[in-house]
Amino acid sequence: MELELRQQFGTSTGVVVIPVAKQGDFKDILSFVASITGISEALITEDFKGELKETAHFFFQDANRTNRLILLGLGENPGFKEFVLAFRNLFFRNGEKLSKGITLDLQQSTTGAPYQLLEAAVNGMVLGPYDAGKFKTEKNGKKSIDWEAFTLEVIIAGTRPDSLGGEENELKQAVRKSRIIAEAQWQMMDLVNAPANKKPPQHLAAWAIESGKKYGYEVKVYELKALEKMGMEALLAVNRGSEHPPVLIVMEYKPKAGSAKKIGLVGKGVTFDTGGLSLKPSGNMHHMKSDMGGAAAVLGTMEAAARLKLPVHLIGVVPSTENSVDANSTKPGDVIGSYSGKTIEVIDTDAEGRLILADALNYTVKNYQPDYLLDLATLTGSCIRTLGTQAGGLFSNNDALAKTLLDIGMQTGERLWQLPIWEDYFQEMKSDVADIKNLSSTPAAGAITAAKFLEYFTEKHTAWAHMDIAGVAFGSSEFTSQKSATGFGIRLLVEFLEKV
Ligand code: BES
Ligand code: ZN
Ligand code: ZN
Repeated sequence: MELELRQQFGTSTGVVVIPVAKQGDFKDILSFVASITGISEALITEDFKGELKETAHFFFQDANRTNRLILLGLGENPGFKEFVLAFRNLFFRNGEKLSKGITLDLQQSTTGAPYQLLEAAVNGMVLGPYDAGKFKTEKNGKKSIDWEAFTLEVIIAGTRPDSLGGEENELKQAVRKSRIIAEAQWQMMDLVNAPANKKPPQHLAAWAIESGKKYGYEVKVYELKALEKMGMEALLAVNRGSEHPPVLIVMEYKPKAGSAKKIGLVGKGVTFDTGGLSLKPSGNMHHMKSDMGGAAAVLGTMEAAARLKLPVHLIGVVPSTENSVDANSTKPGDVIGSYSGKTIEVIDTDAEGRLILADALNYTVKNYQPDYLLDLATLTGSCIRTLGTQAGGLFSNNDALAKTLLDIGMQTGERLWQLPIWEDYFQEMKSDVADIKNLSSTPAAGAITAAKFLEYFTEKHTAWAHMDIAGVAFGSSEFTSQKSATGFGIRLLVEFLEKV
C-alpha cells in the first residue's frame, strides 16, 4: 500500500473519501462539498445525514477529469471503532470501485490524531472485502484488492512542510501496522468461522507452525504422548470424548536485542464445545465452533507481534481440544488431576474451558515466569448475560494492569469491563471430595466464579488478567446473516504489547 501525502484538497486517485461525523463542523463540510461539486447544500443534506456507515456519492471536475467524491458517515461522537466500521462497510460494498486507490481527506476530521484515524481507516479497508463463503463452490465474484498496487493518498490539515519527514514516517508506520493487524484478524476470522470438521486441534497447531516459520518465532507442539508425560491431566480429561487428540501449542517470540518484558498469553482453544455429557441444547450449538476465539486472539497476536518486531518477549500458549460426547467422556462427578498437581471435581463437563486453561496457565507460570500473565477465553454464558455483546469481562488481581487494559479497550473499541474477584467468591468453588470443583454451588456470578477457578492455578502470580470474551468474539456484522467471527482481541493485545 503506497502512502502519499497531500496538503491541499485534490486527488491523484480519482476518488476522494471524506469521513464526516454528525456534529461540529458538519455544516462546514457540506458547504465545502457544495463548492466543489456545484450541488446545493440543501440537496446534499437531503442525501446525507452523517449516520454511521451512511454513504453518498458525488462527482466533481478537477484536473480535467471527473472524480468521485464519497461522504462517509461516522455517526455521533465517533471513535476508533466507528471509523473502522464505516470504512469496513464502505469497502465491503464498494470494494471494486475503490480497488485502485483512494484519496482520504482527513482535513475535516477533528476526532483523533491523524495516525489513529489512518490506522482505523486502513483496518476497515483491508477487512472490508472479507469473504465468509470459504466453502462455497460458486464464489461471490468479488475481486480481492491488490494492496501492493493500491495508492492511499491522504490529505491532512496541519501538515507543515518542515515536519513532513517525521509525520510521513509516523503515518507510514500506522498504515503498515494496521495492515499487519488486519491481516492477522482476517486469518483468525477464517479460523473461528471454520466449522469444527475443518479445524481439529492439529489444524490450529499446523497454522502456528507455518506462521512461526514465516515470521521467525518458535513453535513447539506437544501431542498426546507428551501431554500424558507432562501430566496435563485436565486437558486430557476434557479430550477423552473426542476422536481428535489434544495439543498444547507453545509459541515464543524474542526481540533481537536488549532485555524485554516477558508476557505470557494463554488462549482457550476448544474447537467445538458440545458440553460433553452435560450436553448443550442443540438450538445454538453450531455457534460452539467459535469456542477457540481466545486461541485465535493469541495466535493472531503472536504473528502480528513478530511481524511488527515488537520489543517484548512473548510466550503464547494454546491448549486445544474438542469437548465431545463418547463412552470414554469424563462424567459429571469424576475427580481428575491437573498439571499443577491439584485435584478437581468435575461437576459439569460443559465448564471445560477453565479445565484446559488451568493446565495451560499453570504450565506458563511454572515454565516461563512471565512478568504479565494474560488469558483470553470464550468462557461463560454468564459473562454474556452480564455485559452482552458490548464488552468483554475483565478480571484481574492487579489494578495497574487492569487499568491499562481497560484504557486500551476504550481507545480501540475492543471494550472490556471489570468485574470483582473478591475472595468470598471462592467459597462457592470448594469441593467436598477434591481440592476444587469446576462449578459454583450457586447459579449466581458465573463469570466471576469461573475467574476464581482460573486464579487458583496461577500460583499467585501478581500481574494476571483474565478476559472473558464469550460475548464479543462471535457476533453480528455485514459479512454474514448469522453470527460470525469478530477478530476480537488482536488489536487490544498488540496495543498492550506496545505500551507495556
Ligand atoms: N463455551 C462455553 C461458554 C459460551 C457460551 C461461549 C455461549 C460463547 C457463547 C463454556 O464452555 C460453557 O459452556 N460454559 C458454561 C459454564 C457453566 C456450565 C458453569 C456456561 O456458561 O453455561
Ligand atoms: Zn462448555
Ligand atoms: Zn466452552
